[in-house]
Amino acid sequence: MRAVTAQDFRFVQSLMLRRAGLTLWSEKRYLVERRLEALAAEMGLAGAEDVIARVRGGAQALEVRLIDALLPADTHFFRDRRPFEQLDTVLIPSLMAERSHLRKLRIWCAATGKGQEAYSVAMVLARHAEALAGWSVDILATDISASAIAQATTGRYDHFEVQRGLPIRELLAHFTRDGEDWTISAHLRRAIRFEVVNLAHETVAGAFDVILCRNLLMHLDTHVKQALLDRVANALAPDGALLLGATESVIGLTGRLQPDPAQPGVYRRSRERQLATGLQRLAAIA
Ligand SMILES: C[S@@+](CC[C@H](N)C(=O)[O-])C[C@H]1O[C@@H](n2cnc3c(N)ncnc32)[C@H](O)[C@@H]1O
Repeated sequence: MRAVTAQDFRFVQSLMLRRAGLTLWSEKRYLVERRLEALAAEMGLAGAEDVIARVRGGAQALEVRLIDALLPADTHFFRDRRPFEQLDTVLIPSLMAERSHLRKLRIWCAATGKGQEAYSVAMVLARHAEALAGWSVDILATDISASAIAQATTGRYDHFEVQRGLPIRELLAHFTRDGEDWTISAHLRRAIRFEVVNLAHETVAGAFDVILCRNLLMHLDTHVKQALLDRVANALAPDGALLLGATESVIGLTGRLQPDPAQPGVYRRSRERQLATGLQRLAAIA
């Protein structure tokens, strides 16, 4: 494998930042080489350098493939477990009590990957199916990667993927075996809307009761992270909950969100902001 030149690596760093808001640290150079070599082999090209040269020359479709190949993509079902326990035992029950007049729940899995996170949420909601009968439950799952979203939409996972984090009772309750693969029930597939959204440049409007944005922030450039958290705060219902990854936090990045002291890893819209918005609304009415 030939090393990518320093100039080519800088080009890739700058491309990933411009297109996806991602910071590629210099320590990732070897990973970039390995992944682009694999992409070159798949595309019948001479090597990583050849891929980069063609992208530099304006090959748009190849640029999409290059970005896709370098995205942080690791994910699995019920990742970190605790957020799903919090959803199951605290967040969903309290939202159901607060929303009993509306009978409506909106959940957004931002940067969801190949679907394991969104289906984990759907499996948690399925545990509350009886109490949620007659409710409108909207789960939106988005990712920058069109290929990840395409796989997520099929709901089909190989043996290795279903062995990562998925409790056997959930596997047996919601999946059917299809050769070496497992496919999630049509019922859960229909429960989720999958869409391609690039969080570095786009947002999703709405007042979501729960937003999961997990294990992306740590890869983003600081300015992109700050802008994203502000947009996420706008998309969160005033009493909604934001769930971040186990090693992520909003501290030092935005004043719009604050940790929920009762629930580790859960973030809420800041009280001062809620108050300010409420006062603005009152002033507009008066
Ligand atoms: C490490 S995975 C985390 C997936 C899932 N949230 C989890 O915690 O398991 C990071 C995800 O962020 C997505 N991603 C990277 N940059 C993005 C961007 N600018 N906008 C939206 N998604 C992005 C990647 O495609 C990938 O699916």
